[in-house]
Amino acid sequence: MSVSAAEIPDTSVLQSIGDRRSIRYFDPEKKVEDWKLQAFLQAGRLSSCQGNINATEAIVVQRETCDLWDEIEECVSGFNVQIINQSSHLIFWLTNLNAWYGRANDGLSTLALSGALTKFHGWNYEFTMTQTVPRLMSFPTERTENLLRFETGLAVGNAILAGSGLGLGSILIAFGRKPGGIEKAFGLGPHLKLTWGQAIGYPKEDAKAGGQRPRLKFEKLFHKDEYGTPLMPDPAVDDALREKGMLQEQAPLPGRMEELDALASEFGREPGVVSWPEREVKRLMNDEDWDFGPNIRARAEQVIAEGGLPDYPEEMKETFRKLMEEHNLDVKKYLGE
Ligand SMILES: Cc1cc2nc3c(=O)[nH]c(=O)nc-3n(C[C@H](O)[C@H](O)[C@H](O)COP(=O)(O)O)c2cc1C
Repeated sequence: MSVSAAEIPDTSVLQSIGDRRSIRYFDPEKKVEDWKLQAFLQAGRLSSCQGNINATEAIVVQRETCDLWDEIEECVSGFNVQIINQSSHLIFWLTNLNAWYGRANDGLSTLALSGALTKFHGWNYEFTMTQTVPRLMSFPTERTENLLRFETGLAVGNAILAGSGLGLGSILIAFGRKPGGIEKAFGLGPHLKLTWGQAIGYPKEDAKAGGQRPRLKFEKLFHKDEYGTPLMPDPAVDDALREKGMLQEQAPLPGRMEELDALASEFGREPGVVSWPEREVKRLMNDEDWDFGPNIRARAEQVIAEGGLPDYPEEMKETFRKLMEEHNLDVKKYLGE
């Protein structure tokens, strides 16, 4: 099925960013249209890449047509099995390391022909051939891999936003149950790295997925002129961004827990959400780093009031302590000792 430009929604990029959620409940009856899939992949393809080397590729899988489905399902982490089986398509994002070694030369040539690489910035053919390209091509694969995985991340981010603007839901999912299993199923050579798996489809949950998920405070993440000096956001700008749909009401929206239980009942799954210990929930709510609004605070109070919360299994405390100490983290903060 094709599409005309008039049928394609004009969602703004800020709105698409605001609308995006990781969707965990897909409508198993609804397939993503080919044109939307194409737009989604085009967004990945148009993402920026160093030297125009095009290292990001993807395999698009549909359960109904892919002979490898059972093998794929064996590789997905347990908590993602329901997700992939309800989704419309899976996308396996690959990073092709050979693009770096094989296409650096041609990629730069395309940029020169496009009028992107100019003498103005100091590019010259002789230097490019004798210095730049050989230096790039001499990188060890581990370094190349770091650089190119980042680019695949950019491509995926672009695709997710295009999908969000077109009303699609998506989620990145771990395929860690069988390390190397996906590469084996598809017969990928060592230069083709599986960077991430993704499920896409139409949300079965409300598209808001219970509201925007909390993040750390802006000024805890962004620094001015030096590390540790907070870059303060302007509340008036945030208000304007809210009006544009980028900043949205924080989770959990009213009715979210009921929605989750209704979904569980419809699909014959266990209802309810997971809980952390009371002390942990209280500590988290008092943590200055997080940007917690009224909804999540009210939910935390409700969870505590309802009671019946677990405690850390004693043996986990030791494990956590050991792992945190390895990274010089403040164990007292996290384990309340
Ligand atoms: C690289 C990556 C991998 C993820 N893997 C999983 C996963 O395996 N299963 C899952 O349920 N969510 C996964 N997520 C979703 C995150 O948990 C999600 O981003 C988080 O809940 C924040 O919510 P939001 O994306 O709706 O803002 C992943 C996200 C990213 C970026």
